[in-house]
Amino acid sequence: MSKEYKGKRVFITGGSSGIGKGIALALAKEGASVIIGARNSENLEKAVEELKKIGHPEAIFGYTIVDVSDKKQLESASENIIKTLGGLDLLVCSSGYAQVGEAGSLDDSVYRKLMDVNYFGHVNTALAFQKQFIKQGSGEIVFLASTLAFFSVYGYGPYSASKHAISGFAQGFRQEMMLHNVKVKLFFPPTTDTPGLAKENEDKPLITKEMEMGSALNKVHSIESVSIAIVRWIPNKKFFGYTGWDSWLQYFLFRYFPEWAIKLTDSELRGAQARLEKKNKDRKK
Ligand SMILES: NC(=O)c1ccc[n+]([C@@H]2O[C@H](COP(=O)([O-])OP(=O)(O)OC[C@H]3O[C@@H](n4cnc5c(N)ncnc54)[C@H](OP(=O)(O)O)[C@@H]3O)[C@@H](O)[C@H]2O)c1
Repeated sequence: MSKEYKGKRVFITGGSSGIGKGIALALAKEGASVIIGARNSENLEKAVEELKKIGHPEAIFGYTIVDVSDKKQLESASENIIKTLGGLDLLVCSSGYAQVGEAGSLDDSVYRKLMDVNYFGHVNTALAFQKQFIKQGSGEIVFLASTLAFFSVYGYGPYSASKHAISGFAQGFRQEMMLHNVKVKLFFPPTTDTPGLAKENEDKPLITKEMEMGSALNKVHSIESVSIAIVRWIPNKKFFGYTGWDSWLQYFLFRYFPEWAIKLTDSELRGAQARLEKKNKDRKK
């Protein structure tokens, strides 16, 4: 068991599914007490049962039903969590979702909901615990954004905007909390095989799917590998976190060669368009 997490008190939003649940399981295995938050109570209950099975007998496991887009719900949830755990060492904001579609085809409410959950959801969560972290003079806050927080492609504009927004917030908030000895960190998860990804794929435009299939920069990762990478990165000093050669390459290219990287994604889009046209022609023959 690693010393890093033994006895640590953790709250994870989105801890009932996908990457959030993967992180919860990995931390429970390492001896942490973990409370998870989400909206669906059945999924929360099931996840807590799994945590109890693999966790330390003295650790505390529990859940709170909370919609992160509702600031009031988070404020009362945070009071209960702090009482139950006797403080908080690590806050992980993993709640979130993607809805993909051509910009003009999406209703205004889609844009707003993505911001409410992916941006305000993380902000609400962090602010609900801020006073406690300042009082303690210690703690860590982790935001899960996306590799699409530093670039974007066809159909992902509204989702990407919400992830760029949380990336910007995290960078400013990091400096504020630094003066209170509280670490703020930002992870860019890659494409990961989660229930969330399966849902996202349901209404993804065909050309986006085709582009992803032919992309040199896109690989689907397992929940376990991404969660373990996050759990290993949290104790290190780096603010930005990512995993896998594909994320590293994307980050490197978009940071140091942005115009070239945009051209690369454009050529992937053109390639996808040509393949789809060919498939259509072949079908009509
Ligand atoms: N999977 C990927 O390829 C990928 C790639 C890059 C970034 N990410 C990001 O990584 C995070 C986790 O994604 P995932 O793929 O693991 O998703 P997932 O399997 O769908 O899990 C999402 C979790 O967030 C919770 N959640 C969603 N909306 C919520 C709300 N309004 N209030 C409270 N909880 C809410 C869900 O529970 P309820 O529905 O019960 O509330 C669930 O526990 C997200 O922020 C996502 O944007 C994922």
